[in-house]
Amino acid sequence: MHIVLIGFMGAGKSKSSHILQERLGIPRWSTDELIVNRSSHDSVASLFAAEGEQVFRDRETEILRELLSGEPLVLDTGGGIVEREENRQLLQDCPHPVFYLQADFDTIYERVGGDERRPLMLDRNQAFERYTRRLDWYASCADYCINANVGDPGTRAEEVLRIMNQRSAHE
Ligand code: S3P
Repeated sequence: MHIVLIGFMGAGKSKSSHILQERLGIPRWSTDELIVNRSSHDSVASLFAAEGEQVFRDRETEILRELLSGEPLVLDTGGGIVEREENRQLLQDCPHPVFYLQADFDTIYERVGGDERRPLMLDRNQAFERYTRRLDWYASCADYCINANVGDPGTRAEEVLRIMNQRSAHE
C-alpha cells in the first residue's frame, strides 16, 4: 500500500514524506525529484525556464502513472499534480490512501512566497489564482484531509500514521 501526499506548494508534503519513510521503512519518491533526475536539469526551476511548464506536466503525468502502479512507497507529489484531469483520475482510481495536506494561502505564502526554487510562487496574485483553482481538485482526489496550517511536519506525519493504523485495524 502506498501513502500518497497531495497539496499546494509549501504545505509540507516533502518534510512529512521523509518522516513517514523513516517511520515505515518503505521507499519514498517525489514526483519533482524523479522528473529532475531524469532530465538534463538540476532543478525544477531550471527545467521550467528551459522547457516550459507543459513539458514538466507531461513528465509529471508519466511519473505519477509509473509510481502509482509500482512497489509500496511514500509518494510526495508536486503541488500541481491535480492540474490535469488525467492525473486526478489516476489519483481517484488508485487503491492507495491519498492524504491532502491543506493549508491556507496566507500561511503558504508566508512559508514559500518568492522562493526562487518555486517558479510558480514568485507572483503572489498568480499563485493565489492557482491556489483557488485547485482547491476543489485536491478535495476531489483526497481520501483524507490533514490540517497543515498548524503543527510541524512531524505532527502531520503522526496524523497520517494514526489514520493508517485505524485503517489496518478495520481491515
Ligand atoms: C508546482 C509545485 C512544485 C513543483 C513545480 C510546480 C505547482 O512542487 O512541482 O514547481 O504547480 O504547484 P511542490 O509542491 O513540491 O513545491
